Amino acid sequence: MQTNSSHKLHVAIIMDGNGRWAETRGMPRSAGHEVGADTVRSIVRTAIGHGIGALTLYAFSTYNWQRPEPEVAGLMSLLRHFLLVEAPELRRNGVRITVLGRRDRVPLGLARAITAAERATAGGTRLHLRIAIDYSARDAILSAVADGVTAEALAERLGTEDVDFLIRTGGDQRLSDFLLWECAQAELYFTKVQWPDFGPAEFDAALADFAVRTRSFGAVPAA
Ligand code: FPP
Repeated sequence: MQTNSSHKLHVAIIMDGNGRWAETRGMPRSAGHEVGADTVRSIVRTAIGHGIGALTLYAFSTYNWQRPEPEVAGLMSLLRHFLLVEAPELRRNGVRITVLGRRDRVPLGLARAITAAERATAGGTRLHLRIAIDYSARDAILSAVADGVTAEALAERLGTEDVDFLIRTGGDQRLSDFLLWECAQAELYFTKVQWPDFGPAEFDAALADFAVRTRSFGAVPAA
């Protein structure tokens, strides 16, 4: 699994599809999140087994507050439960848990569970499990840049606009530090076609792919 002996991998996962998984089985969306939490347990175990150094999981974005209140409450409760129940075992397995994102808007019980899990597992050196809760990369960048800088001011300094659709030719599937801020809500499209061969037909196919995507921006799409 390791590409070389010195570098430990940092794997980031956008855990998307819980809602659809449940809906296609005639179950409530919350059931999808519950099964998703089981998947988290299994992926964390797998990551430890593979010697992965850090695993960052996108559990709740700032945009997810727009979801129906019962779904949000269910997710908050699931996250609290996960941290309370799993922390002791993760600690025994050498896992350090940290949570990224805002702490001031989550329910108090979850905020306490986060602090407790971070404290209890602080000595872990095997796997760094980072759970993003109420997270936005843009908020993180803003806090890192300076207090008082607004998203609009930063976008103006960057001299650019939001990207809706990012295409990468040539077969690799990564962002390579290209327009990170601007791609916060971009749809991604990866093709093996090399740039010299990327003619109008390929461009049209990519745009047709984009045209049928549902862009929910973290909310539940309108039925
Ligand atoms: C996106 O799927 C997933 C979420 C918003 C929640 C992710 C949470 C979990 C996997 C469970 C708990 C996590 C941890 C770390 C214990 P979606 O609901 O947007 O799915 P959809 O696109 O099909 O609607």
